[in-house]
Amino acid sequence: MKITIFGTGYVGLTQAACLAEVGHTVCCIDIDERRIAQLNQGLSPIYEPGLEALLLSNLSAGRLSFTTDATEAVGFSKVIFIAVGTPPDEDGSADMQYVFAVAHTIAEYSRESKVVINKSTSPVGTAQRIQARIQSALSKQGRDLGVQVVSNPEFLKEGSAVDDCMRPERIIIGIDGEQNIELFREIYKPFSRNHEKLIVMDSRSAELTKYAANCMLATKISFINEMANLAERLGADIEMVRKGIGSDSRIGYDFIYAGCGYGGSCFPKDIQALQRIAGEAGYQPLLLEAVESVNQRQKQKLFDNIRRHYNDDISGKTFAVWGLSFKPNTDDMREAPSRVLLESLWAAGARVRAFDPEAMHEARRIYGEHPGLYLADSKEEALEGAHALVIITEWLNFRVADFGLIRQRLVNRVVFDGRNIFEPEQLVREDLTYYSIGRAVSGMVQA
Ligand code: UDX
Repeated sequence: MKITIFGTGYVGLTQAACLAEVGHTVCCIDIDERRIAQLNQGLSPIYEPGLEALLLSNLSAGRLSFTTDATEAVGFSKVIFIAVGTPPDEDGSADMQYVFAVAHTIAEYSRESKVVINKSTSPVGTAQRIQARIQSALSKQGRDLGVQVVSNPEFLKEGSAVDDCMRPERIIIGIDGEQNIELFREIYKPFSRNHEKLIVMDSRSAELTKYAANCMLATKISFINEMANLAERLGADIEMVRKGIGSDSRIGYDFIYAGCGYGGSCFPKDIQALQRIAGEAGYQPLLLEAVESVNQRQKQKLFDNIRRHYNDDISGKTFAVWGLSFKPNTDDMREAPSRVLLESLWAAGARVRAFDPEAMHEARRIYGEHPGLYLADSKEEALEGAHALVIITEWLNFRVADFGLIRQRLVNRVVFDGRNIFEPEQLVREDLTYYSIGRAVSGMVQA
């Protein structure tokens, strides 16, 4: 089937590559000319495991093409996906200007009936609003083409986007009126494999499902972080509590890892957006408000531990930082806890020597030549001359560490671990002071 996709961000690009990989012919359009030129050479603008290989093979097989030309893209197919960004506005609500701009482009260039599928995470009622806008634009031009707008939210995770897209747990289709789902069966058949993954509902329920899923996951994280903070005060170990509660299948082991807070392009934005949506509907979302405040406090936790350890005397000290991306296997630093820590350390007069396996160029883009930031070539080099080590992202290759080297290089032999990647006893044996999340401070506490 021929498919057009507006937007070449995480969602649009991954979707395009996966749809092409299973045999559809996909035309992607973006307004960013540099990005399109790069993509036409098979270069992925984002770091995502497996994505570039899919781009290259499907480009050369002729199943994938990239353009900035709206006439070409809209004319290419009857089926058009919208996968452009919905970044947060100043007030936290989703900024819909890009989605609606695409709706107008579709109306302007359509010469036949279309099915428009919105994948961008958007406020409840967006599919209906897109439908109304396209129809009114068409009728102003005296045209009647029969456009149907459907909501089809995306659930992929950065770092495993290709895998999530190829093996979805569910495919939500939100259609109003006559539910002609054959088209969607055809698009998604290769992804359904052994059993039907399609769950069909109305568009408003589909849009709320996306927010509800992300907010539920963010709630699990803030809940376990709250328990971690309690565990520290009560002399309990959050890692044992996690195993204890995760074994209850109603709770499950996933998304109950305590840490220095959630970041990324989805959870922080969606929690805020759903609060706005609730407010507009005249409802105060007490739980969502709490989830967000707990997370904001948690992002300060590493700095609070550092401050407490050094009795507020941080000025002039240097901190080795392992991990800058908001989670492993991505170079994305949007809303990353690392940014809160770096900025707090700088404000307190400290310097940072940071290393991240993928996010170095992103850090350079965000902070430029910041005098307080040295970007090291390796995790070992980051330790040189630092007073303490701070771990923010649980990259796999941080989990095996040369403690002898850490001990030797750190002036103060202290490790602040925001992701609980080590065992406290291990660090005690290595003669290091160890602050983790939701567990007692272990080893010699020395400033
Ligand atoms: C999320 C959703 O998982 C995905 O379904 C949706 O489509 C987009 O938003 P993503 O933002 O890529 O995906 O990352 P995710 O793996 O969910 O992690 C989000 C944040 O939560 C990270 O900062 C991570 O470190 C943190 N996290 C996750 C925890 O602190 N503890 C956990 O137990 C799990």
